[in-house]
Amino acid sequence: MPARHGAPSIVRMPGEILVTRRIPAAGVQSLASAGLSFDVNPHDRPMTREELIQAVEGRRGVISLVHDRIDGALLAAAGSQLRIIANMAVGYDNIDLAAAAERRIFVTNTPDVLTETTADLAFALILATARRVGEGDRLVRSGRWAGWGPLEMLGRDVHGATLGILGAGRIGSAVGKRAVGFGMTVLYSDPLASAEMEELGGERVELDRLLDKSDFLSIHVSLNERTHHLIGAQELARMKPSACLVNTARGSVIDEAALVEALRRGRPGCAGLDVYEREPALTPGLTDLDNVVLLPHLGSASERTRGSMARLAAENVIAALAGERPPNLVHPNVGDKA
Ligand code: DGY
Repeated sequence: MPARHGAPSIVRMPGEILVTRRIPAAGVQSLASAGLSFDVNPHDRPMTREELIQAVEGRRGVISLVHDRIDGALLAAAGSQLRIIANMAVGYDNIDLAAAAERRIFVTNTPDVLTETTADLAFALILATARRVGEGDRLVRSGRWAGWGPLEMLGRDVHGATLGILGAGRIGSAVGKRAVGFGMTVLYSDPLASAEMEELGGERVELDRLLDKSDFLSIHVSLNERTHHLIGAQELARMKPSACLVNTARGSVIDEAALVEALRRGRPGCAGLDVYEREPALTPGLTDLDNVVLLPHLGSASERTRGSMARLAAENVIAALAGERPPNLVHPNVGDKA
């Protein structure tokens, strides 16, 4: 059972809000300051489906995380008093928007506050894959490093290379800005032209051209029916053998089994992944590859940013429960850019 928090005088059974996992203090402090009662999953692990179904009953608001599947059955279990699902993430592919809309439940996300932090991590993966940072670290730790060598662990240059950005939303554009500082040529692919990308000299191209020309290809589309497995065997085969694929968006944008095969064959030559199709499970073979850098979904994971995300999720709940329109409402037609 979740632990109960909030001002004791107003605590109800159950609290008005369910927070599905421990989140940064800024979030729960905002709820408490607004005089709302809430229950937080005390474990630092996702709630099981059964736990969620039980715990959601009677709530007016839920602060959910990317690993919580919020579908029609869960919303039905909550009951008709549920007003809002506030996802503490910019992505919301874990939520059935149609089911929420049918029940007139608000769905919100946490955009903007994580843009720069996630772009930093995408760039960290670009640098790490190019310069074989993971492999180098493993070599030094193994005790097998024999000292500096003129032919040892030669990598790829980032400066002056061509960066392809798939999805020119907030995070894609922030990655583009960083690329300018590295003297990179920026190409991007998106259904819409992006003023921000054009301003920094980015050229909009079709996906095929992006795949053909990029030395680094960074994915920044959100996951939906259109983008599921957008990068499969055929697309991977178009990439240069020297190219690196970086994904900080959602794992299922890439066909992960096809990626393992492609990396085995060396086309693309390397990959940097922060997200996976079946997190935390990995496609067999992925960890055997030396040309991949693997991170545990850290895109927004800085202390300041996670605090801002928690606060924003709480602000959305507070607004909804006060009968207002929450500031970060998402709609089925919001587009597919992160
Ligand atoms: C998001 O915000 O969508 C991230 O993936 C969670 O850190």
